[in-house]
Amino acid sequence: MPTYLVTGGAGFIGSSFVLGLVGQKGVRVINVDALTYAGNLMSIEPILEDPHHTFVRGDIRDAEMLAGLFREHKPHAVVNFAAESHVDRSIVAPDAFVQTNVLGTFTLLQEARSYWSELPEDGKRSFRFLHVSTDEVYGSLEPGEPAFRETNPYTPNSPYSASKAAADHLVRAYHHTYGLPTLTTNCSNNYGPRQFPEKLIPLMILNALEGKPLPIYGDGMNVRDWLFVDDHCAAISTVLRRGRPGETYNIGARCEKTNLEVVKTVCRILDELVPQSRFRPHESLMVFVKDRPGHDRRYAMDSSKIETELGWKPAESFESGLRRTILWYLEHPRWVESVRSGAYRDWMKSHYGIA
Ligand code: NAD
Ligand code: DAU
Repeated sequence: MPTYLVTGGAGFIGSSFVLGLVGQKGVRVINVDALTYAGNLMSIEPILEDPHHTFVRGDIRDAEMLAGLFREHKPHAVVNFAAESHVDRSIVAPDAFVQTNVLGTFTLLQEARSYWSELPEDGKRSFRFLHVSTDEVYGSLEPGEPAFRETNPYTPNSPYSASKAAADHLVRAYHHTYGLPTLTTNCSNNYGPRQFPEKLIPLMILNALEGKPLPIYGDGMNVRDWLFVDDHCAAISTVLRRGRPGETYNIGARCEKTNLEVVKTVCRILDELVPQSRFRPHESLMVFVKDRPGHDRRYAMDSSKIETELGWKPAESFESGLRRTILWYLEHPRWVESVRSGAYRDWMKSHYGIA
């Protein structure tokens, strides 16, 4: 039975990926997650009792734990989502980013290589190590510059993107030096259900519903390329199936929007979906706040490689994906309550001064 060792599968993208995978016939998933503030078992509640899914609370820096999982479950693929993922937190406290994103990925690579090197030849050939990375490793684009291609040089600007870039380089080296069949995906900004509300879109949705300020950094004209989370997960599955070992694949939706456009669209959809709200028009809650230090101006992905070589294309439009996302937050108050823990409140208070 195909067995996936997935790391970070209780986080935003990882949970969408394992929920989709466990639904497939004849697939087993071993899901390793440290359950940091960003991990949440409620996100994978529907599959917690599923016999095809095993959840392990563990840290990807723990070599012994990983070695035991490789020995016991003999996975045919590793998909590495586990990471510290929030740029603002990486500016305030970069240590955890180096620990998990660099040392954690290194430890996972070491244990995967040690397991893989003992496999019979056909197992060795079919094994895959897929590392989930970001467009931020390419740095920042000026308006009008062509979108990032896989051949662009790495110029990471934040502690977060620098730690992801370091991990990407290690993955590349493990293929080049040891022949480990690695794949790296570099994706643009995701949005969708179950995203921790420190990121732009869920933060705006939840603050707007409560009549709290909608903090927009700088002039609000920074541009991101937005992709619905299920489209990202479909791209990862495509790369696992058809990607060429040692290659990297850029993933994006050609959906560039300024932050102002994004926040205004969230507000418009909320005005429509919550007509009884006393905070309508929600746009009136927007406030411009101090910019993020070193704030990258624009990201845009050229995904022609994955489109032409592997046949992947995004299915969701921004308008429909955003509507689905907002409806999900409206329909899951129990999940929302569960993530508003002490850690979340502390972050809101220290970063925004919002109680
Ligand atoms: P997330 O912060 O929502 O989830 C990360 C998960 O990793 C959490 O469940 C957390 O508990 C777990 N984790 C953290 N440290 C760990 C450790 N040491 N050991 C085991 N588990 C640990 O992140 P996300 O947004 O779902 O991102 C997933 C991956 O995709 C990351 O590698 C991120 O860099 C990448 N990515 C994210 C986006 C995006 O827009 N969110 C875009 C491109 C790439
Ligand atoms: O590009 C891919 C990356 O996208 C991923 O690798 C990261 O893990 C993910 O967090 C995301 O990084 P960003 O920094 O682009 O996402 P964030 O949601 O933090 O911010 C999106 C934009 O919105 C960015 O230009 C900063 C701005 N912003 C963000 C917050 C939280 C605001 O204006 N106000 C805010 O309060």
